[in-house]
Amino acid sequence: MRKTVLAAGIAALTLVAGHAAAQTRISIWDGVYSEAQAGRGRTLYMQNCSRCHRADLSGNFETPPLVGRFMPYWSGTSLDALFEYVSTAMPLDRPGALGPGANTDIVAYILKSNALPSGSGELSADRLKAISFDPAKPVRRVKK
Ligand code: HEC
Repeated sequence: MRKTVLAAGIAALTLVAGHAAAQTRISIWDGVYSEAQAGRGRTLYMQNCSRCHRADLSGNFETPPLVGRFMPYWSGTSLDALFEYVSTAMPLDRPGALGPGANTDIVAYILKSNALPSGSGELSADRLKAISFDPAKPVRRVKK
């Protein structure tokens, strides 16, 4: 009898822990950047990236697009992977030239360009690892 109660208790605890984890998990769909930040990122993008990736981010025959198939390509990573890549490999002609603040703003602009929602807070470099890159909006279980 006591064993059953204990097992039930553990099951309940596991459920609670699972629920908490589901709530704290953040994705690119959760409004992780602000409009003001994406605006700054747009200016930086036009100055440093649009020459190759084009003003509408569609790329060209030798430069990949940063919209469209870009989304499934980065699927399953966390946002810091994109940030690291941009920070170290881009702009292609002078890799690593931009600082972390500028690169975070540019990542915010890329998110906005892919129709991901903005929020009230700014994207900051220390939050990137916790933000998963989900190509489609995750279906959340309705709280009962
Ligand atoms: C001189 C041209 C050029 C400039 C300027 C440039 N890029 Fe790129 N970018 C490329 C090329 C070419 C690739 C493909 C590289 C490869 O596959 O190895 C690439 C790849 C990328 C990728 C990976 C895309 C994918 O899904 O495979 C990202 C993200 C990116 N660039 C972002 C940027 C950002 C942000 C800037 C501005 C800070 C920038 N690029 C500036 C030419 C450029």
